[in-house]
Amino acid sequence: MRRGIYPGSFDPITLGHLDIIKRAADLVDELVIAVLNNSSKVPMFSVEERIAMIKDATKDIKGIEVEPFDGLLVDFASRKNAKLIIRGLRGVNDFEYEMQMAQTNRNMCSGVDTIFLVTNINYSYISSTLVKEIIKYDGAFQKLVPEEILKYIK
Ligand code: PNS
Repeated sequence: MRRGIYPGSFDPITLGHLDIIKRAADLVDELVIAVLNNSSKVPMFSVEERIAMIKDATKDIKGIEVEPFDGLLVDFASRKNAKLIIRGLRGVNDFEYEMQMAQTNRNMCSGVDTIFLVTNINYSYISSTLVKEIIKYDGAFQKLVPEEILKYIK
């Protein structure tokens, strides 16, 4: 059985994330969406809220598990017996950071590989950071996130 990990902060999940999740779920038998629970990063939504939003937005996709993680991603991957990390690439701005993470992860754990899925062009401008800013200033964020999570955002 091939298990992949799709890690991130998902604060909150966006349509860009959802697109990657749907495509990644087709590549593996089981996709674990690993939600960062890191006390040094103060999120807008608690890890419980972020997990509930992702579960709701992905309820119709087969083979999805949603779990919190802290500590190193490679340790979580090895606990889950997964050798594949999946990340989305929106453009050149993401590239340097993503390369650095993929190389560091592979250096720490030679059994783990990262594959990148190129974001759908319709969503390549969306980021959780911008969505949070729009929510904060009461702007129109509704077209940037899955419909299922609107009820979690007040
Ligand atoms: O959605 P994000 O915030 O870009 O996701 C970043 C994430 C969670 C994938 C990354 O910060 C991570 O893996 N953190 C766990 C700690 C870790 O393993 N750090 C070393 C990575 S090289």
